[in-house]
Amino acid sequence: MNTTNDNPAGTYLLAHITDLHIKAGGKLSYRMVDTAGALRRCIASLLAAPQQPDSVVITGDLVDFGTEEEYRFLRGILQTLPMPVRLLPGNHDHRATLRRVFADHDYLFANGDGDAPVHYSVEAGPLRLVAFDCTVPGKPGGQVDPAALPWLEATLAAEPGRPTLLMLHHPPFHTGIGHMDRQGLADAALLEAVVRRHPTVERVLCGHLHRHITHRFGGTIAMTAPGPAHQVTLDLDPQAASRFRMEPPGYLLHQWDPAHGLVSHAAVIGDFGADHPFFDAAGKLID
Ligand SMILES: [Fe+2]
Ligand SMILES: [Fe+2]
Repeated sequence: MNTTNDNPAGTYLLAHITDLHIKAGGKLSYRMVDTAGALRRCIASLLAAPQQPDSVVITGDLVDFGTEEEYRFLRGILQTLPMPVRLLPGNHDHRATLRRVFADHDYLFANGDGDAPVHYSVEAGPLRLVAFDCTVPGKPGGQVDPAALPWLEATLAAEPGRPTLLMLHHPPFHTGIGHMDRQGLADAALLEAVVRRHPTVERVLCGHLHRHITHRFGGTIAMTAPGPAHQVTLDLDPQAASRFRMEPPGYLLHQWDPAHGLVSHAAVIGDFGADHPFFDAAGKLID
């Protein structure tokens, strides 16, 4: 296992995982998906990669039903990650229970305790990670809270020179996957107006869709990460049934480099064998 980040000085590598849907005791989700095993394989993939992430963010749906037992089980699995891990809730999460089990994650309390929305801003090397909680307890869809926008505006304005990643569970854009758009983010235009005023936002990082999707949003790039377990079926018929598929799972790696900006890579989890050379020992392209 490679335990050091050998990236050049000034670079920063952030792993973006989402939609773990952990169930207590490793019970299967939807009676067939081993989400705990999937998270363990995701972590093993991260730790075996040539470069280690400096930190990890997980953009919601951490567990399946928001119970304390689920969060405790999740906590045990996440302890195998040696780098800082930042969490935010999704529509399957329960804020107060998340805070109770992860009480040592100070940033979770930046906007209050209990059921208060989990808004926060933390430094991650040269980057700033801003979480904007748009979940609505008990509802699958999200909602931009107009009352929270002054905090977001002030937070984004506070450090205009620091590249910032804005994180929320529901993507603030139409994906074309009808059943997911019907449980999408209400009043996304309010958020877009704020983001547009702050070009320091390099990315808007989301989950919920269980697939990798990108879209222009507020003058920046918004994207969802794939799931480490099941993926939402890619069917762009607006009336398509709500289904998932066991496609190759994955996560995103975002590398910040002051000379080149932020580059986002999609990593696939699985055993695909050894690397193979393009060139032979004499430097000739293998024919
Ligand atoms: Fe999810
Ligand atoms: Fe979700």
